[in-house]
Amino acid sequence: MEIKVVENYQQMSLKAADIVADQVNQKKDSVLGLATGSTPEGMYARLVEMYRVKMIDFASVVTFNLDEYTALSPKHPQSYHCYMNRHLFDHINIKPENTHIPHGNNEQDISEICREYDYKIFSMGGIDLQILGIGVNGHIGFNEPGQYLQTRTHLVELAEETIEANSRFFSSPEEVPRRAITMGMGSIMHAKKIILLASGESKAPVIQKSVSGRISTDIPASLLQLHRDIVLIVDKQAVSLL
Ligand code: PGA
Repeated sequence: MEIKVVENYQQMSLKAADIVADQVNQKKDSVLGLATGSTPEGMYARLVEMYRVKMIDFASVVTFNLDEYTALSPKHPQSYHCYMNRHLFDHINIKPENTHIPHGNNEQDISEICREYDYKIFSMGGIDLQILGIGVNGHIGFNEPGQYLQTRTHLVELAEETIEANSRFFSSPEEVPRRAITMGMGSIMHAKKIILLASGESKAPVIQKSVSGRISTDIPASLLQLHRDIVLIVDKQAVSLL
């Protein structure tokens, strides 16, 4: 596990965008695993800038997002479908049919949707580069702390800490969806390369626990210590407890 400490959020975003651009420039049809949340917003903004000056071309790139709320329509402004369009897809030349975000609601057969999602990732040759943020409770994607973790894409009940953390995007905590579909730990760990981004003091305790040398399902991100090719790009505040 390599840890690159940078000065601030801006530096973290630039470095992450450079890694994505290198990946895509080396392999035009790269399969990227994408994350949402506040953390990768700056990286997406930089990738859009790089696209505009022809430093990166998304024409053959394929993407799979980590997760999505089940109860929200893809058109809801707080859905991750809207997030991805707003921050990246609407501004670059990616083909809509090459972008994938898990989607299902309560009436549909979610387990079938999850199986198909994993199959699609597999049939595209797996994820070349996975981008991750980290929750204050150690979740990656929506793989929440608990007695056990799941390997495959699955339906998940969101943890209270996650609902509270994400309530800043909604008018009240009651509006935050309680359930989501998330890629599992296996789908994430099978990515050929992973970059995990973290910025700010609020992430310092969980970064400390995630790189401690111990692995626990109480801190899902701690499993990443077993990955062969992972880089943490973290700002000074996020490593202040190391
Ligand atoms: P954040 O979320 O980037 O908004 O802090 C990270 C996460 O919950 O995975």
